[in-house]
Amino acid sequence: MREVTSAVLLVGVAMLACACSSSDSGGEERDAGTEPDTSGSTPDFQVQPTELYSGYDEEHVFHIPFAAYGAGTDLKATVADTSVASIEPTTFQGDPSDTGKWYMLTVKKAGKTKVTVTSGGKTKEVSVNVVGYDKNRYAAGEARYNSADGSQPPCAECHSKKDGPDHSPYKLAPIPDNQVKLIITTGILDGFPIKDVQQNHRWTPNDEQLAGLVTYLRALPPRGFSGTP
Ligand code: HEC
Repeated sequence: MREVTSAVLLVGVAMLACACSSSDSGGEERDAGTEPDTSGSTPDFQVQPTELYSGYDEEHVFHIPFAAYGAGTDLKATVADTSVASIEPTTFQGDPSDTGKWYMLTVKKAGKTKVTVTSGGKTKEVSVNVVGYDKNRYAAGEARYNSADGSQPPCAECHSKKDGPDHSPYKLAPIPDNQVKLIITTGILDGFPIKDVQQNHRWTPNDEQLAGLVTYLRALPPRGFSGTP
């Protein structure tokens, strides 16, 4: 998570240096990947991301990972409304340098809740936002994901390659649905255009396909966790 973000930031700095127009259209900043400050002897206790987004369609499994950094052995995480999501500790294997203690939420129904995370007498909160998705959405997204649309390639052509760019809930958990849609249709990621890809990543799915793609991506197994690709 951190290396990717640093790379993105470097690309960003390079682009500003070349005086390309900076884009405000990228929207909100993302929390994921903001590196916790571990320079001091006792790193600050924090959770990342602090805002989580997912969906639920009553048919597929939706997972949301998040991590606590700088926590002691007394670390505890509790979901306020367990009818919205359940929580299990998990292990992140995607980055050996990551020091987080990871949790995996499993969505149970649409709604909002929060996770209270405590360690060393300190408390952090994570808000959980689960949008209700129509049952038919997933199929339209899956179909577009795996097949070309006119001159536009299947998403799978790049993303399902070995080590292809990750857009599983590991990446998308801190990004609300409307922002995920904008990444797909504008190619703007973290405020900067996705470079060197066909059509500059400005895909034009119809509304049904776009809603379906968000559903499909939210239902992917988060990358980097045991038992998931
Ligand atoms: C030609 C290759 C290619 C195709 C086809 C493609 N993508 Fe991407 N996608 C990329 C690249 C490259 C990135 C940027 C990865 C990065 O910089 O971290 C990206 C990023 C993303 C992200 C943001 C992930 C993040 O880090 O938050 C999403 C979401 C996404 N793509 C969805 C899609 C969807 C949906 C489709 C099909 C409609 C699609 N992509 C088709 C190459 C592609």
